[in-house]
Amino acid sequence: MPRDVIALASDHGGVDLKSLLKDELLKTGHDLLDLGTEGPQSVDYPDFAEAMAEAIRSGKAKNGVLICGTGIGISIAANRYPFIRAALVNDATTARLARSHNDANVLVLGGRTMGAEVAKDCLKIFLETPFEGGRHARRVEKMGLART
Ligand code: RB5
Repeated sequence: MPRDVIALASDHGGVDLKSLLKDELLKTGHDLLDLGTEGPQSVDYPDFAEAMAEAIRSGKAKNGVLICGTGIGISIAANRYPFIRAALVNDATTARLARSHNDANVLVLGGRTMGAEVAKDCLKIFLETPFEGGRHARRVEKMGLART
């Protein structure tokens, strides 16, 4: 059975953290899809949220990580797609609850607001935590969000 692919995308405000998390995922043997950006030149975060949405919609990736300077712009942009549940988290607890309660399929981080070690913890926990279902499934369904 093919392994789940994790997509990564950021704007220039998140490119350093993206690169660090990419190394971490490669080290831990994950399959990943890097959707850019590649360098410090200024780009527009909605373009990278769109690339992430397309990767998930098409099935090229099961879930993803989006990063901009604060995580705010790129999470707003990503949540415009009905099958995306993008959660901007700030620590291990919110990363865990984003999965167990909200069934988030995209982890969002702030490249200029979060330290590297906290970001690595958030990513690990996000990838390891299952959705609890039950009452939480009812709530996710009430938002009209299609599950991928
Ligand atoms: C880019 O300068 C910055 O606005 C962006 O990375 C993000 O923080 C927006 O929410």
